[in-house]
Amino acid sequence: MNLPPQLPDLPLFRTIAEAAHELGYPAYVIGGYVRDLALQRESKDVDVVCVGDGIQLAQAVGRKLPNRPRVTVFKNFGTAMLPTPDIEVEFVGARKESYRAESRKPEVEAGTLEEDLARRDFTINALGLSLNPNDFGALIDRYNGVQDLQDKIIRTPLDPDVTFSDDPLRMMRAIRFATQLNFDIDPDTFDAIARNKERIQIVSQERITVELNKIIMAPKPSYGFKLLFASGLLQLIFPKMAALQGVERRGQHAHKDNFYHTLQVLDNVVEAGADLWLRWAAILHDIAKPPTKRFDPKVGWTFHGHEDKGARWVPGIFADLKLPLGEEMRMVQKLVKLHLRPIALVKETVTDSAVRRLLFEAGDDIDRLMTLCRADITSKDHQRVARYLRNFDVVEQKLKEVEEKDHLRNFKPVITGEVIMQTFGLSPSKAVGELKEALLEAILDGKVRNEFDEAYAFLLELGQRKGLAPQPAGAAGTAPSAATQA
Ligand code: CTP
Repeated sequence: MNLPPQLPDLPLFRTIAEAAHELGYPAYVIGGYVRDLALQRESKDVDVVCVGDGIQLAQAVGRKLPNRPRVTVFKNFGTAMLPTPDIEVEFVGARKESYRAESRKPEVEAGTLEEDLARRDFTINALGLSLNPNDFGALIDRYNGVQDLQDKIIRTPLDPDVTFSDDPLRMMRAIRFATQLNFDIDPDTFDAIARNKERIQIVSQERITVELNKIIMAPKPSYGFKLLFASGLLQLIFPKMAALQGVERRGQHAHKDNFYHTLQVLDNVVEAGADLWLRWAAILHDIAKPPTKRFDPKVGWTFHGHEDKGARWVPGIFADLKLPLGEEMRMVQKLVKLHLRPIALVKETVTDSAVRRLLFEAGDDIDRLMTLCRADITSKDHQRVARYLRNFDVVEQKLKEVEEKDHLRNFKPVITGEVIMQTFGLSPSKAVGELKEALLEAILDGKVRNEFDEAYAFLLELGQRKGLAPQPAGAAGTAPSAATQA
């Protein structure tokens, strides 16, 4: 950490100071940029607050800069944005009321610097650096933000009930910053989250999901989810995940706590370098365990079919959370559905046919699937974990061999429905589908190679068994061949 934060010696800041001075507006660099200077984190934008008209200041600065960049004015927000070669600068006049990303209020009441700082979310985000001639670069720290950075504490500048009722999304932001920065949340601030949690309902799902995804992208997302759960927010924003928590016992039989297991799997995939969607797959892989839980006196607790039910739930969960519904969602769904398959392969003797089927179904996502499956082994028994992982090595070796031989990753059967229809003079019908399916099965079973002549010969055989005769050559144009069907 770089404490106290220091204003970088950039011509840009001198120019802003000059323009502000000419207008007679006290001006300050403020908020996330100052915090990130202290934390030595990269910032994408600088926020400048002036006691005066922020838009006017932005325009004055624009006129002074060598390339005279165009100022973008957001009249409704009373803000203006100035692009500079290194960083974007946002200007705003000090205001009395709270900072809300999407506050649509056209009129914001002008305020003093003190009032502006007081209505910000956290002490670490309420730091300023002066751009005024008499104390250029001086630190403004009315709420002990530097001390909180030092102590790694997230705390609201005012009574947390006030700060959170100004913008309930800040409850999510508190947990998000704690997770990103590995900070604690001050107990009074945390208690206020638990007390005000219901207010999250008035926040749009899009804004909640932005914060949730930032928690998920943090270096150790389990920490954020534990805070979300402990505060009661998770139960409101993502009840299905909260429902994973808990252990039930019958006699000798207790199942593991699926919430903490899921968090472990999530941290594991993060360590393996997962992107956002593989992280989502980890979060959702056991999501349907609660409704599929049964007790069988002979074997104990079972969760039969949780992978299928979970996969069926994925589109609804994504829709509720306003996550994208395209290929990312389909990938997550596929991983949830297939997450038990590699481990099942380990338990049986690994046949080529089973490996081929898995490759065919997983396609290009096979590597992600294997990452998820390795992450899913969370036993406390280290020997057991090591044994499973060794078995996975065997499966992975086998996957590689079969893939090299059969190229099933982007597999397309060489005999298409077109060929089948042409061959037997059929129109689109159930029979065509059945023939296609039977051919695919034979190929995946390794009875027939995915090569035109061999597959075509097998098709004729299948047809014969069903009493279908091939059309005489030339009757329906030219007979199909590998060349015309490629
Ligand atoms: N802010 C706030 N309440 C909010 C959102 C923002 O008080 N709900 C204030 C904080 O002072 C924050 C500043 O506005 O530092 C800028 O907000 P934003 O750009 O959303 O966050 P950063 O702090 O810059 O952090 P990040 O970019 O990681 O979101």
